[in-house]
Amino acid sequence: LSPFFKSPMVDGGYDVADHCAVDPVFGTLDDFDALVAEAHRRGLRVIVDLVVNHTSDQHPWFLESRSSRASAKRSWYVWRPGRDGGPPNNWCSEFGGPAWTYDPATDEWYLHSFAPQQPDLNWDEPAVEAAMHEVMRFWLRRGVDGFRVDVVHKIGKDPLLRDNLGTFVGPSHHRPGHRFDEDWPSVHPRLRRMRRVVKEFGERMMVGEVYLLDQAAMAMYVRWDDELDLAHNFHFMNLPWSADLVRTAICELDRLLEPRGWPTWCLNNHDHPRVASRYPGEAAARLSAVLLLTLRGTPFLYQGEELGLRDGAIPEEQRVDVAGRDPARCPLPWEPPSVAGPGAGFTAGRPWLPIAPDAETRAVARQLDDPQSVLSLYRTLLALRRREPALRVGSMAVFEGTGPVLVYRREVPTASLLVLLNFDGQPATVRAADVGRPAIRGTIEASSTMDDLGRGVDAPEVELGPFEGLVLREA
Ligand code: GLC
Repeated sequence: LSPFFKSPMVDGGYDVADHCAVDPVFGTLDDFDALVAEAHRRGLRVIVDLVVNHTSDQHPWFLESRSSRASAKRSWYVWRPGRDGGPPNNWCSEFGGPAWTYDPATDEWYLHSFAPQQPDLNWDEPAVEAAMHEVMRFWLRRGVDGFRVDVVHKIGKDPLLRDNLGTFVGPSHHRPGHRFDEDWPSVHPRLRRMRRVVKEFGERMMVGEVYLLDQAAMAMYVRWDDELDLAHNFHFMNLPWSADLVRTAICELDRLLEPRGWPTWCLNNHDHPRVASRYPGEAAARLSAVLLLTLRGTPFLYQGEELGLRDGAIPEEQRVDVAGRDPARCPLPWEPPSVAGPGAGFTAGRPWLPIAPDAETRAVARQLDDPQSVLSLYRTLLALRRREPALRVGSMAVFEGTGPVLVYRREVPTASLLVLLNFDGQPATVRAADVGRPAIRGTIEASSTMDDLGRGVDAPEVELGPFEGLVLREA
């Protein structure tokens, strides 16, 4: 669940004004309890977003902190005098501009890694850490199965607040120079202590939004039973469409995580253009489905990915997000508008953003009946994954020298599955020798086009169509 806490909604609820209350726009705590109970009854687990790096500027903690330099909560946020009439250092906000805002009432500046309405908590203050642990316990007691920890790499910063190296302009997720304002070594003991809180409640999990583009740095956050169980991999998510780069990334991560961690794969979330928009269209969306659901690790899917949705075009007057991320956040069409009206089965009221594009043809109800649809592909792959231990827990061997085709074998002693993914818009061939066999032999269990399911293959080579992906159960 994305943030549903009480919030002025400057950043889609990532500006929390009360961590332990449901915003009235979503309902009440009783609704939340009912949701968790009903989910559990159906065998579903519920993970909630935990926003730890910052709060809303309307949070009572910040109001108190801001009230005077002598306030008991002054140290809960990062306040500093200016430097030469400007901000205390050169750190930049992820949303552009300086990461500092001047507060005339107390003649000091406060730090905000995101919008000015999202002041950063000071994690060097032990009382902040203790308060956040209490927030975690509040939701764990209510039965949540774990947390997605928001920008968790930012809860450790250089206590000396030294200048970053270089000057950064605009959104800076992709810059190498975040030397001092994130991923400071102090983050790791803090995570370990969060883990201890989670462990008080038995089997619960934490996945981190560790937005570091260096896989080696990200992998340091993943330690079973110690730090995070899982971390989203933004290096992978930001790769250009290339079999070579994907191949290198998955091999590297595998080595980096062994033996204490487990990979996580995702290609879409609420902060990024959708796969069907940023890669070559529906064909790429289909290929990435086969990729995500057959790699060794835990896949994360984002609403609408299973329909092959594209980004929406948002007219100026309907924009909501501070950072231009609305196009990937359009509501999901359950039914075609011609049947269900303009809310497409998502709402009978006015949707908060325009319904996702192609609602007429891509609505869930349309795709459920269509055996070739992207949704049917996802269902086939998920069923296969459930059926085949090789896909869930098997080893993974990635083959080199197969050009635009990414090829890997997932294996347990009783079964072996070969995955072939052609990233190219041209047909491509994989030879048996490429995968260490005298012949490519088996049954097609899944295919990105949804053609040929169940067909036998026994040949010295396999030809793949443009952007085609196959999963072969080897004989
Ligand atoms: C994370 C969220 C993003 C939000 C930011 C600040 O990156 O995914 O939506 O704007 O944190 O909380």
